Amino acid sequence: MRAGVSVFTDGTNGMKHLRTLEDLSVDDVHAVLDLAHELKTRTKAGTREPRLAGRVLSQVFEKPSLRTRASFEAAIGQLGGTPIFYPGKDAGLGGRESLADVARVLSSYSDAVVLRTFSQQLVVDFAEHASCPVVNGLSDDRHPCQALTDVLTMQEVFGRDLTGKTLVYVGDGNNVAASLAVVAGMLGFRLVLLGPSSHHLPGEFVSKVTSTYPNAVVEQTEDPAEALADADVVYTDVWASMGQEAEKAAREKVFSPFQVNADLMAKAPGTCRFMHDLPARRGLEVTDDVMDGEQSIVFQQAENRMHLAKGLLVWLIESSV
Ligand code: CP
Ligand code: NVA
Repeated sequence: MRAGVSVFTDGTNGMKHLRTLEDLSVDDVHAVLDLAHELKTRTKAGTREPRLAGRVLSQVFEKPSLRTRASFEAAIGQLGGTPIFYPGKDAGLGGRESLADVARVLSSYSDAVVLRTFSQQLVVDFAEHASCPVVNGLSDDRHPCQALTDVLTMQEVFGRDLTGKTLVYVGDGNNVAASLAVVAGMLGFRLVLLGPSSHHLPGEFVSKVTSTYPNAVVEQTEDPAEALADADVVYTDVWASMGQEAEKAAREKVFSPFQVNADLMAKAPGTCRFMHDLPARRGLEVTDDVMDGEQSIVFQQAENRMHLAKGLLVWLIESSV
């Protein structure tokens, strides 16, 4: 399924989840972001409050991860709780027992569960049977924790109100692009997807975002000059996502005209920042000089995965008590 298709799912068993960003209201998003900023400030000042002492965070991943797994483990550790990690098959997602039974058992030991999956539906089905909050730590369709981190980082640069800002996402209309489109709609900044039209986000998904969030502006184009003229942020992601390894060579051909390099950055205002969710394939979607250049805020963004995870866990767990 292409990114963004299986969206706007219904409510659950009364429990708060983050299966997609649409599980949160705009006020919820601000609450999580404000908490993450507050906890980051206190952490930087040397304070480590055991606000989730005795709590357990379980993570079950079907795909590799550096940032998501490590940032959630660091987050629960800094907050005084305990992490449990399972590769998906070991936890029983490979058919050892039913998904509903895995969800019932694991959630009974946990105060929150983070899942990294291929299928978005697996996240939805797990949440239906879980007795604790379930967080999507990336599926083929969505990456909500990344998008929340990205707006946390943009707020640090531009201030809390992102209205009127323009984020130009360059490349594939994938899970990261879909979550960015939703959070842009929620917070009222403009999202321009610059890439080959064959890999734009589905029109049905974009229409749903723009009809759901009154301030949403989501545009898609193949024209770099048009896209980049008013960019406050240029953002890119890998051309072949996890699970698309067989398409790598074909995708490199399609996306190479959209590499983020000095020429592309020169089409944007000089004040524009560069973001990437990482891991980056240096020399493919982005060149070293842009990754390591003055406009890049990619490592601030990566660090913020942990601060966002702390805000999200505190918000989800404390409001589920
Ligand atoms: N950005 C991100 O989710 O990184 P990982 O795949 O390393 O978790
Ligand atoms: N779109 C990428 C994001 C990695 C964090 C993927 O799904 O592999």
